[in-house]
Amino acid sequence: MYTMYTLVISLTLILSLTSAAPPVVDAPAGRMSGVLLEATQVRAFYNIPFAEPPTGALRWMPPVAKGVWNGTMALGESKAIGCPQRCFLPPHTCPTTTSEACLTLNVFAPVAASNAPVMIFMPGGHFQQGLADVPVYNGQYLANATGVVVVTINYRLGALGWLVTDELEGNFGFLDQQLALKWVADNVAAFGGNPSRRTLMGQSAGAGSLAAHLIAPSSAPLFEQAVVMSSTIGLAISNPKYGAQLGALVMANMSCKTTECMRGKPVASVLEAEYASQSHLFVDHPLSVFLPWNVNKAGPVPDNQLTAMRAGKVQRKPMIMGNVANEGVIFIYDAVQHPLSKTEYEAIVAGVFGLHAPRVLDLFPGNVIDSRVPMSHLATYYVMICPQRYAMEAMAQNAPVYAYLFDHPWSFARSGWGANYTFCFHQVCHGSGLPFMFSVVRGPQPELGAIRPIGCLAPASRSSSSEGGIHPVDNFAATACDYFDSIGSIGYQHGEGKLDAFLPDSIHTA
Ligand SMILES: *[C@@H]1O[C@H](CO)[C@@H](O)[C@H](O)[C@H]1NC(C)=O
Ligand SMILES: *[C@@H]1O[C@H](CO)[C@@H](O)[C@H](O)[C@H]1NC(C)=O
Ligand SMILES: *[C@@H]1O[C@H](CO)[C@@H](O)[C@H](O)[C@H]1NC(C)=O
Ligand SMILES: *[C@@H]1O[C@H](CO)[C@@H](O)[C@H](O)[C@H]1NC(C)=O
Repeated sequence: MYTMYTLVISLTLILSLTSAAPPVVDAPAGRMSGVLLEATQVRAFYNIPFAEPPTGALRWMPPVAKGVWNGTMALGESKAIGCPQRCFLPPHTCPTTTSEACLTLNVFAPVAASNAPVMIFMPGGHFQQGLADVPVYNGQYLANATGVVVVTINYRLGALGWLVTDELEGNFGFLDQQLALKWVADNVAAFGGNPSRRTLMGQSAGAGSLAAHLIAPSSAPLFEQAVVMSSTIGLAISNPKYGAQLGALVMANMSCKTTECMRGKPVASVLEAEYASQSHLFVDHPLSVFLPWNVNKAGPVPDNQLTAMRAGKVQRKPMIMGNVANEGVIFIYDAVQHPLSKTEYEAIVAGVFGLHAPRVLDLFPGNVIDSRVPMSHLATYYVMICPQRYAMEAMAQNAPVYAYLFDHPWSFARSGWGANYTFCFHQVCHGSGLPFMFSVVRGPQPELGAIRPIGCLAPASRSSSSEGGIHPVDNFAATACDYFDSIGSIGYQHGEGKLDAFLPDSIHTA
């Protein structure tokens, strides 16, 4: 009776204090205090360290779990600390500072969360840029809209995360992701999350990573369902032979013959060597030009993601997989910064597709004013949509798979894409779904600029189309917001064992 009485008193005290005192959580990792985001009634815990800083002797080593700390770790406000990188990403997705002590994650938990589903997000950025703690991935709106606990995680980037040499197996960033997922399994209950109801999500490089977790046996216990957004599986993953060639260039630029020597160099030398080596063209790994740093086919990752999926060597987990309408634009316009003539375009297509070039040009004819337009569409299908479609067809043999195509251009393109990405205005560029997925378009986000998004599109029914033998993924008859909001909170109830459109209406009523 006495205990019950004190419990009620304590709860009353806690509840009445939440708006004044910072929220405190006693997790197995240690006690920590975060911030209460008043507008959404979400407790945010930014920059929780899940690993010891991978510096000195720990550089290019598997991450070491952060030891339990004593006392209360005061986490405070968002700081946007990224792993070392040179960031050229669109606005709102770059770090304000970088540090090798970057193995942190962020938790957004509704005040009242109790045994809530958990959504864990791995950001993209070519395995070389980006970070979790940025406005676009601020989990408070998603947590508020759905009641889920949102976790966003950092992992090592570029040469520090993915360097392969004769001595190093790469995949340090992949192991970081696994350790972060283990941290979630051990600690998320303290934040009101359900540790056995986890949706792992990733976009771009984060989605390429996620595809690797789906085929890595050691990742199987770490999540229950997956959302793979615009993955990089169309670009060949690294392999020890390619990795060693790239790694040798990095070591030469750092004037090092041993890993120990490289561990003694400042971060700036690593970044310089990373960029100096990656523009090299590897004849036996040509697509590495688009993605020099990647998951390595070694150690925990048994195979190329798409190969393993097509062989059925993939975890049986419900998943959503999809693309945005104009995936290729950002890659082509970044690589070719002048209008591309029809002749140049045809020569490139001939070089890449050889005997198949006439058929490709028949489907994607050159344009006399600027052939970057057809080249972007070609890249969208060849590198992004078709490989994902093949992966979905293969995985649908094992588990429910839901496809989406996000095709809503931003009404806030000017502030959202900024001056360096004007070619994304009026296009649905790589990454366009993210502000909707995170529902930041719902919130008062001054970072997104003065032009407010008008909200989600009204549902519009469209039939699937089939053009010239290449089959685009079926469009959604869905509002983007409701579709993404439904993923973590409701799960996958619609359709069994076949490729199917993911229809929010049906899962809302399921
Ligand atoms: C979302 O925020 C509103 C406004 O503060 C609040 O009333 C509501 O309870 C929140 N929803 C959840 C699920 O926390
Ligand atoms: C925490 O406190 C205990 C007991 O005082 C002590 O044994 C332990 O070394 C401390 N751990 C750290 C990381 O300071
Ligand atoms: C490393 O690369 C940078 C940038 O290309 C170059 O300036 C430097 O000379 C290179 N260092 C060595 C030792 O090759
Ligand atoms: C555009 O890119 C340049 C060079 O990377 C950078 O200095 C500048 O801040 C960027 N501008 C915007 C608006 O993002």
